[in-house]
Amino acid sequence: MVKVSVVGATGFTGAVLTDLLAGHAGVELDALTSSSFTGRRVADVFPHLRVGARYVAYEPARMADSEYVFVCYPHAKAHPVVAELVDGGHRVIDLSADFRLKDATLYPEWYGFEHPRPDLIGEAVYGLPELYRDEITRARLVANPGCFPTGALLALAPLAERFCLELVVVDAKSGVSGAGRAPSDTTHFSHVHDNFKTYSEVGHRHTPEMVQELALAAGSPVPLSFTPHLLPVHRGILSTVYCRGGAEGGPEMSFDNEELYQLYTEFYAGEPFVEVRPATPSLREVQQTNSCRLALRGDSASGLVKVVSVIDNLVKGASGQAVQNMNIMAGFEETLGLGRRV
Ligand SMILES: NC(=O)c1ccc[n+]([C@@H]2O[C@H](COP(=O)([O-])OP(=O)(O)OC[C@H]3O[C@@H](n4cnc5c(N)ncnc54)[C@H](OP(=O)(O)O)[C@@H]3O)[C@@H](O)[C@H]2O)c1
Repeated sequence: MVKVSVVGATGFTGAVLTDLLAGHAGVELDALTSSSFTGRRVADVFPHLRVGARYVAYEPARMADSEYVFVCYPHAKAHPVVAELVDGGHRVIDLSADFRLKDATLYPEWYGFEHPRPDLIGEAVYGLPELYRDEITRARLVANPGCFPTGALLALAPLAERFCLELVVVDAKSGVSGAGRAPSDTTHFSHVHDNFKTYSEVGHRHTPEMVQELALAAGSPVPLSFTPHLLPVHRGILSTVYCRGGAEGGPEMSFDNEELYQLYTEFYAGEPFVEVRPATPSLREVQQTNSCRLALRGDSASGLVKVVSVIDNLVKGASGQAVQNMNIMAGFEETLGLGRRV
């Protein structure tokens, strides 16, 4: 058994994490922190969670015995806490974006703050297990990927490794829980219900993260355009990823669905949470699970390969992936605690 704590446990990702960890056979829950609900019982704040513990204020001393700490704070608020915990000897899984970008100079432009710990950025491992499993095993700090990048990168990695990609367009639709628990005009029920729209059509914060990781997978930079959409559903992201490329020193792009299917099933062979499907998947198939489902379609008339990817933003896109990372770090079976719907 390992002791674990969750900092920022009352947010959307914190609540799913609490649910997953409470049902995890290798884990003993230590501190669950909150500033807004300090002293309240978890089950009173989230009646669906059968957890008797009370929320406590964040103080490193309260989690001194925790080997693993998950930090679920908003971006720009997470890094001081993450740094304090890593410096204090904990292994930390940060769900925010504060350690995902390898180039510290990008933080002022994309996240509005000067990053005070480039040393920890250099050390942090990007927590996409399908691409970085070995590095995660040894990591002190895991930067858990963003929800949109998780769906897009799992869709792109096999193509990026095999073919020279010329252009990638990520057209992604997310449920409202992607915005966290604080309501706003644009996430209000009356605005979202029975409605559908794009937002941040150019310059969404997840763009540099996708660009960074796609370049690493491809071996060189690939132009990428990303458009998010807001779906009138609570959970899930469906991404349609359009790819053009091939040749330029590598093989010609394949538009044969069977060949593409083979490429992806070989790339993800043995991966417990990535399923390549002949039929295109829908959100409902993965909601409340840690699965990513993918389907491929070659469109030779337009010269595009289309990859459809679905995940639950709060599970494979956040808290489930965070538990998967902890399982790898702790030497547990990677699927432990991730087999039920949350
Ligand atoms: N939602 C998703 O689908 C998703 C997916 C992947 C990654 N993420 C990332 O994971 C992190 C947590 O996301 P979330 O959706 O759980 O967010 P959330 O619902 O807004 O919860 C964040 C929690 O952090 C605490 N907090 C501490 N300091 C805060 C501050 N200065 N301002 C606001 N809240 C503060 C709050 O709890 P108390 O008030 O109780 O302290 C709040 O409940 C974010 O960095 C987010 O970008 C989210």
